[in-house]
Amino acid sequence: MEKTQKKGGFASGIGFVLAAAGSAIGLGNLWGFPYKTADNGGAAFVFLYIACVIFIGITIMICEIFLGRRSQSNPITAFKKINKNIGWFGLLAIIVPLVITFYYSVLGGYTVKFAVNSFWGNDGNLANFAGTPWQVILFSAIFIGFALIVVMAGVKGGIEKASKILMPALFVLLILVVIFVLCLGEGVAEGLKFYLVPDFSKITGKSILAAMGQAFYSLSLGMGAMIVYGSYTGKEINIVKSTGMICIFDTLIALLAGMAIFPAVFHFASVEGISHTELKLDGIMLMFSTLPKVFESIGFFGNIIEFFFFAMVIIAAVTSVISIMEVSCQFVIQKFKIKRKIATAIVAGLTFLMSIPIGLSLGNLLNGIDKLTVFGLDFLSFLDLVTNTVLMPICALFSCLAVGWFIKPKQAILELEQDDNKFGIFKTPLAIMMKFIVPALILIIEFFGIKDLIFPGNVFSANGLGVALVSLAIVAIVIAVYFIFLKKSETGTNLDEID
Ligand code: PFF
Repeated sequence: MEKTQKKGGFASGIGFVLAAAGSAIGLGNLWGFPYKTADNGGAAFVFLYIACVIFIGITIMICEIFLGRRSQSNPITAFKKINKNIGWFGLLAIIVPLVITFYYSVLGGYTVKFAVNSFWGNDGNLANFAGTPWQVILFSAIFIGFALIVVMAGVKGGIEKASKILMPALFVLLILVVIFVLCLGEGVAEGLKFYLVPDFSKITGKSILAAMGQAFYSLSLGMGAMIVYGSYTGKEINIVKSTGMICIFDTLIALLAGMAIFPAVFHFASVEGISHTELKLDGIMLMFSTLPKVFESIGFFGNIIEFFFFAMVIIAAVTSVISIMEVSCQFVIQKFKIKRKIATAIVAGLTFLMSIPIGLSLGNLLNGIDKLTVFGLDFLSFLDLVTNTVLMPICALFSCLAVGWFIKPKQAILELEQDDNKFGIFKTPLAIMMKFIVPALILIIEFFGIKDLIFPGNVFSANGLGVALVSLAIVAIVIAVYFIFLKKSETGTNLDEID
Protein backbone atom coordinates (compact mmCIF):
# COMPACT_ATOMS: atom_id res chain seq x y z
CA MET A 1 0.00 0.00 0.00
CA GLU A 2 1.21 3.50 -0.73
CA LYS A 3 2.74 5.49 2.10
CA THR A 4 0.39 7.98 3.68
CA GLN A 5 1.30 11.39 2.35
CA LYS A 6 1.95 13.77 5.16
CA LYS A 7 2.33 17.51 5.25
CA GLY A 8 3.29 19.76 8.12
CA GLY A 9 2.61 17.16 10.80
CA PHE A 10 4.54 15.72 13.72
CA ALA A 11 8.21 15.17 13.00
CA SER A 12 8.52 12.02 15.10
CA GLY A 13 6.49 9.23 16.63
CA ILE A 14 7.53 10.19 20.15
CA GLY A 15 6.56 13.82 19.43
CA PHE A 16 3.08 12.59 18.56
CA VAL A 17 2.84 10.37 21.64
CA LEU A 18 3.92 13.20 23.95
CA ALA A 19 1.51 15.68 22.35
CA ALA A 20 -1.39 13.21 22.59
CA ALA A 21 -0.42 12.38 26.18
CA GLY A 22 -0.31 16.13 26.81
CA SER A 23 -3.87 16.37 25.57
CA ALA A 24 -4.98 13.47 27.73
CA ILE A 25 -3.17 14.56 30.90
CA GLY A 26 -5.14 17.49 32.23
CA LEU A 27 -7.36 18.60 35.04
CA GLY A 28 -9.19 15.29 34.74
CA ASN A 29 -6.07 13.51 35.98
CA LEU A 30 -5.08 15.96 38.63
CA TRP A 31 -8.39 16.57 40.33
CA GLY A 32 -10.93 14.15 38.85
CA PHE A 33 -9.16 10.83 39.16
CA PRO A 34 -7.85 11.07 42.74
CA TYR A 35 -11.19 12.17 44.08
CA LYS A 36 -13.21 9.55 42.26
CA THR A 37 -10.74 6.88 43.35
CA ALA A 38 -11.06 7.79 47.01
CA ASP A 39 -14.83 7.97 46.68
CA ASN A 40 -15.28 4.61 44.99
CA GLY A 41 -13.22 2.17 47.02
CA GLY A 42 -9.57 3.14 46.43
CA ALA A 43 -7.52 0.49 44.66
CA ALA A 44 -10.72 -1.36 43.76
CA PHE A 45 -11.66 1.64 41.61
CA VAL A 46 -8.17 1.77 40.09
CA PHE A 47 -8.62 -1.82 38.83
CA LEU A 48 -11.99 -0.89 37.43
CA TYR A 49 -10.59 2.21 35.79
CA ILE A 50 -7.74 0.29 34.17
CA ALA A 51 -10.25 -2.26 32.87
CA CYS A 52 -12.27 0.58 31.31
CA VAL A 53 -9.15 2.03 29.72
CA ILE A 54 -8.26 -1.35 28.26
CA PHE A 55 -11.71 -2.37 27.13
CA ILE A 56 -13.23 0.92 26.01
CA GLY A 57 -10.59 3.63 25.95
CA ILE A 58 -8.01 1.84 23.85
CA THR A 59 -10.50 0.82 21.18
CA ILE A 60 -11.97 4.32 20.82
CA MET A 61 -8.55 5.93 20.78
CA ILE A 62 -7.37 3.54 18.06
CA CYS A 63 -10.51 4.39 16.05
CA GLU A 64 -10.02 8.14 16.44
CA ILE A 65 -6.30 8.23 15.59
CA PHE A 66 -6.95 5.86 12.72
CA LEU A 67 -9.75 8.07 11.32
CA GLY A 68 -7.43 11.06 11.40
CA ARG A 69 -4.44 9.36 9.91
CA ARG A 70 -6.21 7.73 6.99
CA SER A 71 -7.83 11.02 6.00
CA GLN A 72 -4.93 13.46 6.54
CA SER A 73 -7.54 16.11 7.11
CA ASN A 74 -9.90 17.84 9.52
CA PRO A 75 -12.70 15.74 11.06
CA ILE A 76 -15.41 16.87 8.60
CA THR A 77 -13.42 15.76 5.59
CA ALA A 78 -12.34 12.64 7.50
CA PHE A 79 -15.95 11.47 7.90
CA LYS A 80 -16.98 12.74 4.46
CA LYS A 81 -14.33 10.56 2.88
CA ILE A 82 -16.08 7.56 4.39
CA ASN A 83 -19.58 8.65 3.45
CA LYS A 84 -20.85 12.11 2.52
CA ASN A 85 -23.90 11.71 4.77
CA ILE A 86 -21.87 11.34 7.95
CA GLY A 87 -19.71 14.45 7.50
CA TRP A 88 -21.71 16.08 10.30
CA PHE A 89 -20.15 13.66 12.79
CA GLY A 90 -17.00 15.66 12.05
CA LEU A 91 -18.69 19.04 12.50
CA LEU A 92 -19.85 17.90 15.95
CA ALA A 93 -16.27 16.79 16.71
CA ILE A 94 -15.20 20.38 15.97
CA ILE A 95 -17.97 22.22 17.83
CA VAL A 96 -17.66 20.18 21.06
CA PRO A 97 -13.96 20.96 21.63
CA LEU A 98 -14.58 24.61 20.70
CA VAL A 99 -17.15 24.88 23.48
CA ILE A 100 -14.80 23.11 25.90
CA THR A 101 -12.04 25.59 25.01
CA PHE A 102 -14.28 28.47 26.12
CA TYR A 103 -14.73 27.27 29.69
CA TYR A 104 -11.45 25.43 30.09
CA SER A 105 -9.69 28.75 29.51
CA VAL A 106 -11.40 30.24 32.54
CA LEU A 107 -10.11 27.40 34.73
CA GLY A 108 -6.71 27.78 33.07
CA GLY A 109 -6.76 31.45 34.11
CA TYR A 110 -7.43 30.38 37.71
CA THR A 111 -4.37 28.09 37.67
CA VAL A 112 -2.15 30.91 36.40
CA LYS A 113 -3.38 33.26 39.12
CA PHE A 114 -2.85 30.64 41.84
CA ALA A 115 0.66 29.81 40.61
CA VAL A 116 1.64 33.48 40.59
CA ASN A 117 0.12 33.98 44.01
CA SER A 118 1.72 30.90 45.63
CA PHE A 119 4.36 32.92 47.45
CA TRP A 120 1.94 35.50 48.86
CA GLY A 121 -0.59 32.89 49.85
CA ASN A 122 -3.76 31.60 48.23
CA ASP A 123 -5.54 30.52 51.38
CA GLY A 124 -8.97 32.10 51.27
CA ASN A 125 -8.19 33.71 47.91
CA LEU A 126 -10.77 31.84 45.85
CA ALA A 127 -13.94 33.87 46.35
CA ASN A 128 -11.98 37.08 46.31
CA PHE A 129 -10.22 36.34 43.03
CA ALA A 130 -13.28 34.78 41.41
CA GLY A 131 -15.35 37.83 42.33
CA THR A 132 -12.94 40.37 40.82
CA PRO A 133 -13.91 40.48 37.14
CA TRP A 134 -10.89 42.34 35.77
CA GLN A 135 -8.54 39.81 37.35
CA VAL A 136 -10.48 36.80 36.09
CA ILE A 137 -10.55 38.29 32.58
CA LEU A 138 -6.86 39.20 32.71
CA PHE A 139 -5.71 35.76 33.84
CA SER A 140 -7.95 33.94 31.36
CA ALA A 141 -6.38 36.15 28.68
CA ILE A 142 -2.87 35.21 29.84
CA PHE A 143 -3.76 31.53 29.71
CA ILE A 144 -5.31 31.87 26.24
CA GLY A 145 -2.15 33.78 25.26
CA PHE A 146 0.01 30.74 26.15
CA ALA A 147 -2.17 28.51 23.99
CA LEU A 148 -2.17 31.06 21.16
CA ILE A 149 1.63 31.21 21.03
CA VAL A 150 1.95 27.43 20.82
CA VAL A 151 -0.82 26.82 18.27
CA MET A 152 0.30 29.74 16.09
CA ALA A 153 3.75 28.19 15.81
CA GLY A 154 2.23 25.16 14.11
CA VAL A 155 2.13 21.43 14.77
CA LYS A 156 5.85 20.67 14.52
CA GLY A 157 7.28 24.01 15.67
CA GLY A 158 4.64 24.68 18.33
CA ILE A 159 2.60 21.76 19.62
CA GLU A 160 5.27 19.08 19.24
CA LYS A 161 8.11 21.24 20.55
CA ALA A 162 6.10 22.47 23.54
CA SER A 163 4.96 18.93 24.40
CA LYS A 164 8.51 17.59 24.23
CA ILE A 165 9.62 20.14 26.82
CA LEU A 166 6.50 20.45 28.94
CA MET A 167 5.57 16.80 29.41
CA PRO A 168 8.90 15.76 30.96
CA ALA A 169 8.78 18.97 33.04
CA LEU A 170 5.33 18.05 34.32
CA PHE A 171 6.55 14.60 35.26
CA VAL A 172 9.56 15.96 37.16
CA LEU A 173 7.44 18.52 39.02
CA LEU A 174 4.90 15.88 39.99
CA ILE A 175 7.61 13.52 41.28
CA LEU A 176 9.11 16.36 43.34
CA VAL A 177 5.75 17.18 44.87
CA VAL A 178 5.04 13.49 45.62
CA ILE A 179 8.43 13.00 47.30
CA PHE A 180 7.98 16.12 49.38
CA VAL A 181 4.50 15.12 50.47
CA LEU A 182 5.47 11.53 51.29
CA CYS A 183 8.19 12.89 53.60
CA LEU A 184 5.73 14.93 55.65
CA GLY A 185 5.39 12.18 58.28
CA GLU A 186 2.23 12.57 60.31
CA GLY A 187 -0.95 11.54 58.49
CA VAL A 188 0.81 10.34 55.32
CA ALA A 189 0.16 6.63 55.91
CA GLU A 190 -3.54 7.28 56.60
CA GLY A 191 -3.78 9.33 53.41
CA LEU A 192 -2.27 6.56 51.31
CA LYS A 193 -4.50 4.01 52.97
CA PHE A 194 -7.61 6.09 52.28
CA TYR A 195 -6.56 6.49 48.65
CA LEU A 196 -5.34 3.05 47.78
CA VAL A 197 -6.46 0.25 50.09
CA PRO A 198 -9.12 -1.62 48.12
CA ASP A 199 -12.61 -1.67 49.52
CA PHE A 200 -14.59 -3.84 47.15
CA SER A 201 -17.82 -3.18 49.01
CA LYS A 202 -17.80 0.32 47.54
CA ILE A 203 -17.95 -0.99 43.98
CA THR A 204 -21.48 -0.50 42.68
CA GLY A 205 -23.08 0.11 39.31
CA LYS A 206 -22.47 3.79 39.89
CA SER A 207 -18.74 3.34 40.40
CA ILE A 208 -18.49 1.33 37.18
CA LEU A 209 -20.15 4.22 35.37
CA ALA A 210 -17.85 6.68 37.11
CA ALA A 211 -14.83 4.66 35.94
CA MET A 212 -16.09 4.56 32.36
CA GLY A 213 -16.83 8.28 32.30
CA GLN A 214 -13.48 9.09 33.83
CA ALA A 215 -11.60 6.90 31.32
CA PHE A 216 -13.36 8.69 28.56
CA TYR A 217 -12.75 12.24 29.71
CA SER A 218 -9.22 11.58 30.87
CA LEU A 219 -8.13 10.09 27.56
CA SER A 220 -9.53 13.09 25.61
CA LEU A 221 -11.94 10.90 23.67
CA GLY A 222 -14.97 12.28 21.88
CA MET A 223 -13.53 15.76 21.53
CA GLY A 224 -11.96 15.65 18.10
CA ALA A 225 -8.45 16.03 19.50
CA MET A 226 -7.21 12.51 18.72
CA ILE A 227 -8.67 12.61 15.20
CA VAL A 228 -6.84 15.87 14.53
CA TYR A 229 -3.52 14.82 16.08
CA GLY A 230 -3.86 11.51 14.22
CA SER A 231 -4.23 13.41 10.95
CA TYR A 232 -0.77 14.86 11.47
CA THR A 233 0.87 11.44 11.55
CA GLY A 234 1.88 9.07 8.79
CA LYS A 235 3.11 5.54 8.59
CA GLU A 236 5.99 6.32 10.95
CA ILE A 237 3.73 5.76 13.93
CA ASN A 238 2.29 2.48 15.06
CA ILE A 239 -1.24 3.37 16.15
CA VAL A 240 -1.73 0.48 18.58
CA LYS A 241 1.63 0.92 20.30
CA SER A 242 1.22 4.71 20.51
CA THR A 243 -2.25 4.29 21.99
CA GLY A 244 -0.84 1.92 24.62
CA MET A 245 1.84 4.43 25.57
CA ILE A 246 -0.59 7.35 25.79
CA CYS A 247 -2.91 5.32 28.03
CA ILE A 248 -0.05 4.23 30.31
CA PHE A 249 1.29 7.79 30.72
CA ASP A 250 -2.17 9.14 31.38
CA THR A 251 -2.96 6.53 34.04
CA LEU A 252 0.44 6.86 35.70
CA ILE A 253 0.09 10.63 36.10
CA ALA A 254 -3.43 10.25 37.48
CA LEU A 255 -2.23 7.70 40.06
CA LEU A 256 0.71 9.86 41.08
CA ALA A 257 -1.52 12.92 41.45
CA GLY A 258 -3.49 11.07 44.09
CA MET A 259 -0.26 10.17 45.88
CA ALA A 260 0.49 13.87 46.16
CA ILE A 261 -2.98 15.02 47.16
CA PHE A 262 -4.25 12.56 49.77
CA PRO A 263 -1.19 12.26 52.02
CA ALA A 264 -0.94 16.08 51.99
CA VAL A 265 -4.59 16.52 52.93
CA PHE A 266 -4.45 13.87 55.68
CA HIS A 267 -1.25 15.38 57.05
CA PHE A 268 -2.98 18.74 57.31
CA ALA A 269 -6.07 17.23 58.92
CA SER A 270 -3.96 15.38 61.46
CA VAL A 271 -1.84 18.42 62.37
CA GLU A 272 -4.93 20.59 62.73
CA GLY A 273 -6.68 17.89 64.71
CA ILE A 274 -9.68 17.79 62.37
CA SER A 275 -11.26 15.00 60.36
CA HIS A 276 -10.58 14.88 56.63
CA THR A 277 -14.33 14.80 56.10
CA GLU A 278 -14.43 18.45 57.11
CA LEU A 279 -12.33 19.35 54.06
CA LYS A 280 -13.74 19.81 50.57
CA LEU A 281 -12.06 17.23 48.36
CA ASP A 282 -13.64 17.56 44.96
CA GLY A 283 -13.32 19.76 41.90
CA ILE A 284 -12.71 23.46 42.12
CA MET A 285 -12.75 23.53 45.93
CA LEU A 286 -10.06 20.84 46.22
CA MET A 287 -7.72 22.60 43.82
CA PHE A 288 -8.26 26.23 44.70
CA SER A 289 -9.29 26.18 48.33
CA THR A 290 -8.25 23.03 50.23
CA LEU A 291 -4.85 22.42 48.63
CA PRO A 292 -3.56 26.01 49.05
CA LYS A 293 -4.59 25.77 52.71
CA VAL A 294 -2.75 22.46 53.06
CA PHE A 295 0.46 23.66 51.38
CA GLU A 296 0.51 27.00 53.13
CA SER A 297 0.18 25.39 56.55
CA ILE A 298 3.63 23.85 55.97
CA GLY A 299 5.46 27.17 55.86
CA PHE A 300 8.00 28.47 53.35
CA PHE A 301 8.73 25.08 51.74
CA GLY A 302 5.02 24.60 51.47
CA ASN A 303 4.81 27.78 49.39
CA ILE A 304 7.52 26.52 47.06
CA ILE A 305 5.78 23.18 46.67
CA GLU A 306 2.53 25.02 46.07
CA PHE A 307 4.19 26.94 43.25
CA PHE A 308 5.54 23.69 41.73
CA PHE A 309 2.10 22.17 42.06
CA PHE A 310 0.31 25.00 40.27
CA ALA A 311 3.06 25.26 37.64
CA MET A 312 2.38 21.59 36.97
CA VAL A 313 -1.36 22.21 36.75
CA ILE A 314 -0.75 25.05 34.25
CA ILE A 315 1.38 22.74 32.10
CA ALA A 316 -1.29 20.05 32.20
CA ALA A 317 -3.97 22.58 31.28
CA VAL A 318 -1.97 24.24 28.48
CA THR A 319 -1.02 20.97 26.77
CA SER A 320 -4.69 19.96 26.93
CA VAL A 321 -6.15 23.20 25.67
CA ILE A 322 -3.79 23.43 22.69
CA SER A 323 -5.11 20.10 21.48
CA ILE A 324 -8.69 21.32 21.40
CA MET A 325 -7.79 24.76 20.08
CA GLU A 326 -5.97 23.03 17.23
CA VAL A 327 -9.20 21.26 16.28
CA SER A 328 -10.98 24.49 15.38
CA CYS A 329 -7.86 26.16 13.98
CA GLN A 330 -7.23 23.26 11.63
CA PHE A 331 -10.78 23.49 10.31
CA VAL A 332 -10.66 27.28 9.83
CA ILE A 333 -7.31 27.01 8.02
CA GLN A 334 -8.53 24.27 5.69
CA LYS A 335 -12.06 25.42 5.01
CA PHE A 336 -11.33 29.11 4.49
CA LYS A 337 -7.80 28.67 3.12
CA ILE A 338 -6.30 31.22 5.44
CA LYS A 339 -2.95 31.35 7.16
CA ARG A 340 -2.46 29.57 10.48
CA LYS A 341 -1.59 32.79 12.30
CA ILE A 342 -4.83 34.45 11.28
CA ALA A 343 -6.91 31.36 12.01
CA THR A 344 -5.36 31.04 15.48
CA ALA A 345 -5.96 34.71 16.22
CA ILE A 346 -9.63 34.34 15.24
CA VAL A 347 -10.16 31.23 17.40
CA ALA A 348 -8.23 32.67 20.36
CA GLY A 349 -10.13 35.98 20.07
CA LEU A 350 -13.46 34.18 20.06
CA THR A 351 -12.34 32.06 23.02
CA PHE A 352 -11.40 35.18 24.94
CA LEU A 353 -14.77 36.84 24.26
CA MET A 354 -16.68 33.75 25.32
CA SER A 355 -14.57 33.23 28.41
CA ILE A 356 -15.69 36.60 29.83
CA PRO A 357 -19.33 35.79 30.64
CA ILE A 358 -18.30 32.30 31.75
CA GLY A 359 -15.70 33.72 34.14
CA LEU A 360 -18.17 36.26 35.54
CA SER A 361 -20.83 33.63 36.01
CA LEU A 362 -18.46 31.28 37.87
CA GLY A 363 -17.31 34.20 40.02
CA ASN A 364 -20.92 34.84 41.00
CA LEU A 365 -21.43 31.21 41.95
CA LEU A 366 -18.33 31.13 44.14
CA ASN A 367 -19.57 34.26 45.88
CA GLY A 368 -23.08 32.97 46.36
CA ILE A 369 -24.61 35.50 43.92
CA ASP A 370 -27.53 34.20 41.91
CA LYS A 371 -26.90 36.07 38.66
CA LEU A 372 -25.83 35.03 35.15
CA THR A 373 -27.19 31.50 35.38
CA VAL A 374 -28.85 29.14 32.95
CA PHE A 375 -31.16 26.36 34.16
CA GLY A 376 -30.07 27.16 37.69
CA LEU A 377 -26.40 26.59 36.88
CA ASP A 378 -23.44 28.87 36.35
CA PHE A 379 -22.34 28.93 32.68
CA LEU A 380 -19.26 26.81 33.32
CA SER A 381 -21.08 23.96 35.03
CA PHE A 382 -23.80 24.16 32.38
CA LEU A 383 -21.37 23.84 29.45
CA ASP A 384 -19.40 21.18 31.30
CA LEU A 385 -22.57 19.08 31.66
CA VAL A 386 -23.62 19.63 28.05
CA THR A 387 -20.26 18.51 26.71
CA ASN A 388 -19.19 15.82 29.17
CA THR A 389 -22.49 14.13 29.82
CA VAL A 390 -24.15 14.31 26.46
CA LEU A 391 -22.03 15.45 23.53
CA MET A 392 -18.66 13.80 24.15
CA PRO A 393 -20.04 10.26 24.41
CA ILE A 394 -22.04 10.93 21.22
CA CYS A 395 -18.87 12.05 19.41
CA ALA A 396 -16.96 9.01 20.60
CA LEU A 397 -19.83 6.77 19.55
CA PHE A 398 -19.73 8.25 16.05
CA SER A 399 -16.01 7.52 15.73
CA CYS A 400 -16.69 3.91 16.65
CA LEU A 401 -19.65 3.64 14.31
CA ALA A 402 -17.63 5.12 11.45
CA VAL A 403 -14.95 2.47 11.89
CA GLY A 404 -17.13 -0.45 13.01
CA TRP A 405 -20.05 -0.01 10.62
CA PHE A 406 -18.95 2.16 7.71
CA ILE A 407 -15.27 1.26 7.16
CA LYS A 408 -15.85 -2.17 8.72
CA PRO A 409 -13.50 -3.75 11.28
CA LYS A 410 -11.99 -6.17 8.75
CA GLN A 411 -10.70 -3.35 6.59
CA ALA A 412 -9.60 -1.27 9.62
CA ILE A 413 -7.65 -4.19 11.09
CA LEU A 414 -6.08 -4.85 7.69
CA GLU A 415 -4.87 -1.25 7.56
CA LEU A 416 -3.63 -1.39 11.16
CA GLU A 417 -1.69 -4.54 10.40
CA GLN A 418 0.33 -2.56 7.91
CA ASP A 419 1.86 -0.79 10.93
CA ASP A 420 3.50 -4.09 11.93
CA ASN A 421 0.70 -4.98 14.34
CA LYS A 422 0.08 -8.69 14.46
CA PHE A 423 -3.35 -9.24 15.94
CA GLY A 424 -3.41 -13.01 15.36
CA ILE A 425 -6.14 -14.63 17.41
CA PHE A 426 -7.18 -11.20 18.73
CA LYS A 427 -8.52 -10.18 15.32
CA THR A 428 -12.05 -11.39 15.94
CA PRO A 429 -12.32 -10.05 19.52
CA LEU A 430 -11.04 -6.66 18.33
CA ALA A 431 -13.55 -6.61 15.49
CA ILE A 432 -16.37 -7.46 17.92
CA MET A 433 -15.21 -4.71 20.28
CA MET A 434 -15.17 -2.11 17.50
CA LYS A 435 -18.50 -3.08 16.09
CA PHE A 436 -20.66 -4.08 19.05
CA ILE A 437 -19.23 -3.97 22.53
CA VAL A 438 -17.70 -0.50 22.68
CA PRO A 439 -20.65 1.24 20.98
CA ALA A 440 -22.98 -0.59 23.39
CA LEU A 441 -20.94 0.47 26.42
CA ILE A 442 -20.91 4.09 25.23
CA LEU A 443 -24.68 3.96 24.83
CA ILE A 444 -24.94 2.73 28.42
CA ILE A 445 -22.80 5.64 29.66
CA GLU A 446 -24.93 8.05 27.64
CA PHE A 447 -28.19 6.57 28.88
CA PHE A 448 -27.26 6.71 32.57
CA GLY A 449 -25.60 10.12 32.14
CA ILE A 450 -28.81 11.62 30.74
CA LYS A 451 -30.97 9.75 33.23
CA ASP A 452 -28.93 11.17 36.10
CA LEU A 453 -29.23 14.62 34.59
CA ILE A 454 -33.00 14.52 34.33
CA PHE A 455 -33.70 12.41 37.44
CA PRO A 456 -30.91 13.12 39.92
CA GLY A 457 -31.59 10.95 42.98
CA ASN A 458 -34.70 9.70 41.16
CA VAL A 459 -36.57 13.02 41.36
CA PHE A 460 -37.38 14.91 38.20
CA SER A 461 -35.25 17.98 37.51
CA ALA A 462 -36.60 20.49 35.00
CA ASN A 463 -33.15 22.08 34.85
CA GLY A 464 -31.56 18.76 33.95
CA LEU A 465 -34.14 18.30 31.22
CA GLY A 466 -33.22 21.78 29.97
CA VAL A 467 -29.55 20.83 29.76
CA ALA A 468 -30.39 17.65 27.86
CA LEU A 469 -32.66 19.51 25.43
CA VAL A 470 -30.08 22.21 24.74
CA SER A 471 -27.51 19.49 24.01
CA LEU A 472 -29.84 17.82 21.55
CA ALA A 473 -30.62 21.20 19.98
CA ILE A 474 -26.89 21.66 19.37
CA VAL A 475 -26.79 18.31 17.57
CA ALA A 476 -29.81 19.35 15.46
CA ILE A 477 -28.17 22.67 14.52
CA VAL A 478 -24.94 20.87 13.60
CA ILE A 479 -26.86 18.52 11.30
CA ALA A 480 -28.71 21.42 9.64
CA VAL A 481 -25.56 23.51 9.15
CA TYR A 482 -23.74 20.54 7.65
CA PHE A 483 -26.42 19.64 5.13
CA ILE A 484 -27.10 23.27 4.14
CA PHE A 485 -23.55 24.61 3.96
CA LEU A 486 -20.91 21.91 4.11
CA LYS A 487 -22.01 18.68 2.50
CA LYS A 488 -21.55 19.82 -1.07
CA SER A 489 -18.76 22.32 -0.54
CA GLU A 490 -15.05 21.63 -0.32
CA THR A 491 -13.90 21.23 3.30
CA GLY A 492 -10.16 20.89 2.74
CA THR A 493 -7.32 18.64 3.86
CA ASN A 494 -3.94 19.07 5.56
CA LEU A 495 -2.45 19.82 2.11
CA ASP A 496 -4.41 23.08 2.14
CA GLU A 497 -2.40 24.65 4.94
CA ILE A 498 -0.65 27.69 3.48
CA ASP A 499 2.95 28.09 4.66
N1 PFF B 1 -8.12 14.70 28.99
C1 PFF B 1 -8.33 15.98 29.57
C2 PFF B 1 -8.25 15.88 31.07
O1 PFF B 1 -8.13 14.77 31.60
O2 PFF B 1 -8.29 16.90 31.72
C3 PFF B 1 -9.64 16.46 29.11
C4 PFF B 1 -9.50 17.67 28.37
C5 PFF B 1 -10.12 18.75 28.82
C6 PFF B 1 -8.70 17.74 27.23
C7 PFF B 1 -9.92 19.90 28.22
C8 PFF B 1 -8.51 18.89 26.61
C9 PFF B 1 -9.09 19.97 27.16
F1 PFF B 1 -8.82 21.13 26.64
